[in-house]
Amino acid sequence: MELTKGKIGVFDSGFGGLTILQNIAQQLPQYSYMYLGDNARSPYGTRSFETVYLYTWQAVDWFFKQGCHLVIIACNTASAKALRSIQQKNLLQEHPSKRVLGVLRPTTEVIGHYSNTNHIGILATNGTVQSNSYLVEMEKFFPKIKVFQQACPLWVPLIENNEHENAGADYFVEKYCQQLMAQDAQIDTVLLACTHYPLLYKKIKKYLPNHIKIVTQGSIVANSLEDYLQKHTSLKDLCLQNGDIEFYTTDSEEDFNTKASIFWGAPVKSTHVNLT
Ligand code: DGL
Repeated sequence: MELTKGKIGVFDSGFGGLTILQNIAQQLPQYSYMYLGDNARSPYGTRSFETVYLYTWQAVDWFFKQGCHLVIIACNTASAKALRSIQQKNLLQEHPSKRVLGVLRPTTEVIGHYSNTNHIGILATNGTVQSNSYLVEMEKFFPKIKVFQQACPLWVPLIENNEHENAGADYFVEKYCQQLMAQDAQIDTVLLACTHYPLLYKKIKKYLPNHIKIVTQGSIVANSLEDYLQKHTSLKDLCLQNGDIEFYTTDSEEDFNTKASIFWGAPVKSTHVNLT
């Protein structure tokens, strides 16, 4: 039986994944995309493994029901806490032809190339830091690298509430940047290991020492996806190529449209969905 082509699904707990979709859509504009933000249940960063897995699986299952064959989890917290279970439990048992990819693996495959001192700092959500996934994965690709992690629990709420450009945000950006740098003087590269954080890029740059290289994940994930599709031609052939993008949110459409348009730099029109 011939399978019907589907859009590529891109998922995040909220708006952060838009920073990944932006790079993917620029680099691979020929494909069609569906973006889903679980804004009603964001942030995920403070939630348990079980909850993040449940929410993420509900989202991935929704994408599958929309006909997607490939879903990108554009969220570090969900990639760290839910991706492996989804790949090992849900895909193997129920959806063997579908693919779900995350942002952690593509990042850890290349991050070591950015540093000269082999000392890398990571700014991420509580969930990502506690999972230790970055430490474990980086060790596989760059065993000599020393990783220093700093959780930044207030950054996602600041961004989701559109407060990230305001002066009040400076206090928390400075605080977590200082706490990271206090861990080790040789850090020369800092990874923004949460897809929301590029929205705070200017402030993070302001509060990190000048010599620090700040790495964001958008182009890393886009390069990795391009490479993946080149190597997996049967999956590539199942991806619709109409060059369009649809936006979905689990919360208010109006609120999503207003905030997402700021992140996206162009008007966004979303549709509300229920995942439960
Ligand atoms: N963008 C998500 C990430 O990359 C934010 C997580 C959250 O909702 O706390 O981790």
